[in-house]
Amino acid sequence: MARKSMHGEWSSRWAFVLAATGSAVGLGNIWKFPYITGENGGGAFVLVYLACIIVIGIPVMMAEIMLGRRGRQSPINTMHDLAVESGHNPNWKWLGWLGVLAGFLILSYYSVIAGWSLAYVFRSASGAFTGATADGVESLFLERFLAHPETLLFWHTLFMAMTMIIVARGVKSGLESAVKFLMPTLFLLLLVMVGYAMSQGEAFTQGLEFMFRPNFSALTWGGVLTAMGQAFFTLSLGMGAIMVYGSYLSHTASISRTTFAIAAADTSVALLAGIAIFPIIFANNMEPSAGPGLIFISLPLAFGHMPGGVLFGSLFFVLLSFAAWTSSISLLEPVVTWLVETFSLRRITATLYAGILTWLLGVVSVFSFNDWAFEFEFAGVLKENGVFDILDILTTNIMLPLGGLFIAIFAAWFMSREASRDELGLGDSMRYNLWRFLVKFVTPAAILLVFLNMLGII
Ligand code: TRP
Repeated sequence: MARKSMHGEWSSRWAFVLAATGSAVGLGNIWKFPYITGENGGGAFVLVYLACIIVIGIPVMMAEIMLGRRGRQSPINTMHDLAVESGHNPNWKWLGWLGVLAGFLILSYYSVIAGWSLAYVFRSASGAFTGATADGVESLFLERFLAHPETLLFWHTLFMAMTMIIVARGVKSGLESAVKFLMPTLFLLLLVMVGYAMSQGEAFTQGLEFMFRPNFSALTWGGVLTAMGQAFFTLSLGMGAIMVYGSYLSHTASISRTTFAIAAADTSVALLAGIAIFPIIFANNMEPSAGPGLIFISLPLAFGHMPGGVLFGSLFFVLLSFAAWTSSISLLEPVVTWLVETFSLRRITATLYAGILTWLLGVVSVFSFNDWAFEFEFAGVLKENGVFDILDILTTNIMLPLGGLFIAIFAAWFMSREASRDELGLGDSMRYNLWRFLVKFVTPAAILLVFLNMLGII
């Protein structure tokens, strides 16, 4: 039973690896990972995050790609058909819905932050950071940028338009060459930043210790939940993005090797970003727990003082914007494929509807950083940006792990052993059995454990 996707197929296995890596590597690695690590006390948080990547992220990614390739449609129709085909309840389609909704909510604020990155390309290029002090870069960010909703709105609109253009044309053209060239450059530039961090003497060691020396007294169950959510967010899991990309994958590609490559690349980028950023924070007596603005305050300071800073700074934010772009299209793609399949819309029309709605919700996040900001506490961490933070917590910490939980349960308990073995192409090997054991027991148990602890039930 080999289905074909009505939306076409990747030109090669490489194209899929690149697109999936493009989806995974994004703001989650460079913007989010450092700031939530800072908010949650460092080392112990990083350790739990890495454990979640291995025990939950990798098995769920294999499951998601597998379901996508078998179903060959949008997450909603894929889940529906796969459930019916294996003699189960068609209501599994709601899992697809949960994912499409999560993608829509995430993209709304993701686009706002990506807009910051775009804006910072121009700020870097104009030399605004040259020689700036810690107070200077901070006021540049907080007072001369975040405080102005019309500025944020402009960049959010531009980024959303960029995302819609690619999705409207079909994600398979253009993505490949963009990722092939840009990802390695981003990686190199991060190495340059790590080099700069190394020149910070004592602060470099301090940064490394903060990230890698676990202090479990600094970690709450809320922090564990955030680390688990981050594992989903950074690998683009739990909402069908990777499922849709998997649905364009040819039958001959190895799902397990592909998954390892993506997870390894994604994790290295996040760790490098942390290693580059924390020393700068400590060298300048800044707070690691500064929140979403962390990299927009610490990195400009570094660019303002390193040789070639104007060039490196502009290039860095160009690449970060690109990384965000290749991620955002994977958030929009599931909704669009579903609209196309269900209402026989043209791709461009479907993209317009979904994109405009997402843009509109994004406006709420724009105002969360200024006029409509309010504070609340989540699991011991002070959150200052109202609806933006609520959307982020709701999607990353609740919807994605919930989606992942059901994806694991479906793949291991509802899909037949033959079907998954056939699709993963691993035969009855150790690898296959290890995967099955993980998605069947370990992954669901780990997700449930964290959820129940958070709710205070355990
Ligand atoms: N993984 C991307 C990042 O780290 C964000 C992203 C893209 C995403 N597609 C997703 C997150 C799907 C969750 C689900 O920036």
